[in-house]
Amino acid sequence: MFVATHDPAWGQKLVAPTPSMGWNSWNHFAGRVTDADVRAAADALVSTGMRDAGYIYVNIDDTWEGTRDGSGVIRTNEKFPDMKALADYVHSKGLKLGIYSSPGPKTCAGFEGSYGHEEQDAATYAAWGIDYLKYDLCGYRDVMTAESHGDAAKSNQMMHDAYEKMHRAIVKAGRPMVYSLCQYGWDAVWEWAPSVGGNLWRTTGDISDNYDRMSVIGFQQAGLEKYAGREHWNDPDMLEVGNGGMNGDEYRTHMTLWAMLAAPLLAGNDLSKMSDDTRAILMNRDVIAVDQDTAGKQGTRVWAEGPKEIWVRELAGGGRAIALFNRGESDLPITLRLKDAGLKSGARAKSVWKGEEIRLAGEQTFQVPRHGVVLLVTR
Ligand code: GLA
Repeated sequence: MFVATHDPAWGQKLVAPTPSMGWNSWNHFAGRVTDADVRAAADALVSTGMRDAGYIYVNIDDTWEGTRDGSGVIRTNEKFPDMKALADYVHSKGLKLGIYSSPGPKTCAGFEGSYGHEEQDAATYAAWGIDYLKYDLCGYRDVMTAESHGDAAKSNQMMHDAYEKMHRAIVKAGRPMVYSLCQYGWDAVWEWAPSVGGNLWRTTGDISDNYDRMSVIGFQQAGLEKYAGREHWNDPDMLEVGNGGMNGDEYRTHMTLWAMLAAPLLAGNDLSKMSDDTRAILMNRDVIAVDQDTAGKQGTRVWAEGPKEIWVRELAGGGRAIALFNRGESDLPITLRLKDAGLKSGARAKSVWKGEEIRLAGEQTFQVPRHGVVLLVTR
């Protein structure tokens, strides 16, 4: 297996020792995002306590891009009057700023991509003070199609090269940045992303704010656990918690599953208007601790029967996170057999969403709500 090391260019500094946490503009604001929205998100990360819980990246997704000047330097559009000033603002709050581009001539939303300007763009981002780059294949697919003439191997090689090219450009620019690959999991990206410098790579197409899509994406991650670890993580896409399309049990499933998967936790809601429920889900310290566990071992499914699934994640120090998911359309009992989770009878656990300490019997049945979850963390 490929063992990723951090970029020598960054010295001893790791950029993603645990999965990145923060906020991204796309799921809620999409193409409407402005400088003011990003500042408001930064303010809210601080005032809600999310920053102190670990959410430190403020990531601008697509639609910030303007045109290039006469020498090819990328400019922002009118929604983002001064990116350097925005970065300074975000940094002054103890947060980090992320940005978005594409290896293609155009981004997914049809804005200017980095094609042919990779070094120039990386240098511009570094000069602005950018700390994170999401690099979205999009427009580059047309280049691959045009130049590979139906040769799939050539097309895939072009894609690898395009991602590696931008990584080299970032390293040359000299400012440490999390490098997030977004190409929807094509060509088993988990097998090669670390070798082109990826810290995170999207494993699927886009999430949307409903239980069906979220659960299809999340539960299909079983099997990818061996590819995750320090500095290199599977990314099943950003969070939808708080966007309104799922109920509390469904959002708790979303958050729990992402934590079991050692996934990046990038909130995708309007942080300036959060309900108490949303806040409690995004800021549950025990769930965040599972996601950020320093052993960096992604969990997986250990048992399933119809709509009932049990997932286990091994934690540093010998503890375990055990998630009992009910994917069914009614409340169901799920029986945990401790030996299936590698535990002995009498083990102590916290039932995280209930906030209760319990002692586990050899076989124990939990009532799990429709589309809901019981999360146990043993010590
Ligand atoms: C793609 C990505 C999304 C988002 C949009 C922006 O669909 O997968 O996450 O970045 O592009 O246009």
